[in-house]
Amino acid sequence: MTNKKLYVLGGGGHAKVVIDALAASGTTIAGLIDPRLEVGTIVLGVPVIGGDEWMTKLDPQGAQLANGVGATVKSRVNRKLFDLWSAQGFSFASVVHPSAIIGAEVELAQGCQIMAGAILQPHAKIGVGTVINTAVSIDHDCVVGAHCFIAPSVTLCGGATIGDGTFVGAGATLLPGVKVGNNALVAAGAIVDTDVADGDYFQR
Ligand SMILES: CC(C)(COP(=O)(O)OP(=O)(O)OC[C@H]1O[C@@H](n2cnc3c(N)ncnc32)[C@H](O)[C@@H]1OP(=O)(O)O)[C@@H](O)C(=O)NCCC(=O)NCCS
Repeated sequence: MTNKKLYVLGGGGHAKVVIDALAASGTTIAGLIDPRLEVGTIVLGVPVIGGDEWMTKLDPQGAQLANGVGATVKSRVNRKLFDLWSAQGFSFASVVHPSAIIGAEVELAQGCQIMAGAILQPHAKIGVGTVINTAVSIDHDCVVGAHCFIAPSVTLCGGATIGDGTFVGAGATLLPGVKVGNNALVAAGAIVDTDVADGDYFQR
């Protein structure tokens, strides 16, 4: 438990999912920080309080962040913001929707996000800043590295592993024990039945 006030970075689509998960777990959000929205805009009951200039008013000793910026295949602004504000001493809260099922001895690193309906089976490990999106199923002994974006309804069968910075498109399935490297891209709906090297693109 922390006494720090929690601020969400962003007020767009991904932020809505983050706000909803935080609200569902009884967490109070002090405000949203988004340079693209007018101050005073209300998103799911939470006001936008300013843009990046607001960050200079916050003290990392008294404020914690949640990353409300999503990722796309081409844009990883969420990672840039994580690195930028972490370097200034801010910590990122992990977000776990109460409807997610978290099995025994699952390891969740700082700032990861486990969205509604996700299932993580025993001994799964999720890295720093990684997003496990709506209804993702991660089976026993899977490892997902840091700053990955696992899109809705992806399935990882037992023992599958993913490196850092990888994007897995909606509904893809990784067969048991498959290894996907760092900064790779798996197309939506792909059935990954072979290892994928660092930086590679897989679609089948
Ligand atoms: C694989 C992907 C990256 C390709 O993107 P792209 O390079 O912009 O490709 P395009 O959309 O221009 O499509 C090129 C061709 O591939 C096909 N295609 C695109 N995505 C495909 C997929 N996932 N599976 C099979 N075929 C696909 C298109 O229909 C198109 O076919 P055509 O040339 O016969 O018309 C993208 O489609 C994808 O899967 N993105 C993931 C999106 C996602 O899951 N987001 C999560 C949001 S929460």
